[in-house]
Amino acid sequence: MAKTKTSFFCQNCGTQYAKWVGRCTACSEWNTIVEEIIQKEEKRNWKQSSTIKKASKPIKITEISLDEEDRINTNNNELNRVLGGGLVKGSMTLLGGEPGIGKSTLILQVALSIKKKVLYVSGEESQSQIKMRAERLNTINTDCLILTETKTQNIFAAIEESHPDIVVIDSIQTLYTDYIEASPGSISQIRETTAELIKFAKETATPVILIGHITKEGTIAGPKILEHMVDVVLQFEGDRNHTYRILRAQKNRFGSTAELGIYEMQNTGLREVDNPSEILISEKDESLSGTAIGATLEGMRALMIEVQALVSTAVYGTPQRSVTGYNIKRLHMILAVLEKRAGFRLGAKDVFLNIAGGISVDDPAIDLAVVAAILSSNEDEAIPQDYCFAAEVGLAGEVRPVNRIDQRISEAEKLGFSTIIVSKFNKIAAKNYKIKVVLVSKIEEVFTALF
Ligand code: TYD
Ligand code: MG
Repeated sequence: MAKTKTSFFCQNCGTQYAKWVGRCTACSEWNTIVEEIIQKEEKRNWKQSSTIKKASKPIKITEISLDEEDRINTNNNELNRVLGGGLVKGSMTLLGGEPGIGKSTLILQVALSIKKKVLYVSGEESQSQIKMRAERLNTINTDCLILTETKTQNIFAAIEESHPDIVVIDSIQTLYTDYIEASPGSISQIRETTAELIKFAKETATPVILIGHITKEGTIAGPKILEHMVDVVLQFEGDRNHTYRILRAQKNRFGSTAELGIYEMQNTGLREVDNPSEILISEKDESLSGTAIGATLEGMRALMIEVQALVSTAVYGTPQRSVTGYNIKRLHMILAVLEKRAGFRLGAKDVFLNIAGGISVDDPAIDLAVVAAILSSNEDEAIPQDYCFAAEVGLAGEVRPVNRIDQRISEAEKLGFSTIIVSKFNKIAAKNYKIKVVLVSKIEEVFTALF
């Protein structure tokens, strides 16, 4: 029997040490070094039979052919968009997200609707559990194989037997390889099993999708190097109390990271939302005071987002300010600007601000909608439902221009808004919009334009 070898790993960044230290020299974290059992063996290949592979030769960059066909259509528009046009052959994709957010559902749904042979390896759920989930989803791909296994050597044996076009691993934290003795989910196991899978993906040009858990801090559990090793890192996020989910790329070697996919969790699985504004604007029959629509951008997409404000006389001595989905410091700034530059007495009022739908917005272009919602609630006068806003508000009470204004205006026009209020200083390329574009330079002008 080979001698047991141990080594020390930082649980935060994955750095390996020969002996225990109190502080990781690579990431400066304290008390993150843990001893793990490893056992070195030379023969570490996904395919035991072919240990010797021809060494790659250098080729001129001009001679490398690019095949657009190398992307596999996942039959899921939102996922295709985030991936940059489909799943690249031989690529390694890591999908992270909080427990229960819908990672397994999303990937199973893709596995069931894609027109390829998929091997879905689950270390978390039994075959019958997966079957029950698949029945809820109402789509059946007869070429979808389910395997419940956690040992990589057995997974590779199953792959050699079934020759799948795509391999899914749910989740990387449950896998282990025989060559390492540490327990599944430990740094060395995650690193080693991922390395084996990457080797398999690259050698056979089979795309592999890994599902990964997320830590309390919101990073993918395991060493940071996991994110360096894979080609694409996707993050599935959303509020568990709300039905829709956002898929973003944190890293993408084959496309932009600015793209965004939006889904709605229903009883029958995840529905793709092609027109996100539909769910971000609450439905109502009449105009209510205190709501305003902002034309914001999330990645490359324009989204119309509803801002709701409630301004009321403070019951207690100190007025309360509370926000959901918006930066509280920015709300304080906007209230100060309204007070000082435009003379609105909001100092003794409670102000509550909410971005509808439970999402959070960083885009400064929402500022003007925030101002409008606050003023509307304060005056108790509704803003017409077909008005929207896109501008930043500065400390002097000036209405500042925002980027990609034409995209915002055309999205508003497409969704049937009659009027959009933007900064006078924005350079608008196209002049022939059907939507009325109102230009303002100060927040007082917004007030006169509205009420
Ligand atoms: P799941 O995919 O198991 O999450 P993860 O793999 O990220 O941990 O998602 C589970 C949640 O999704 C669960 O709370 C139930 C809900 N769900 C639906 O609302 N509709 C459905 O059709 C399915 C399959 C799940
Ligand atoms: Mg799961």
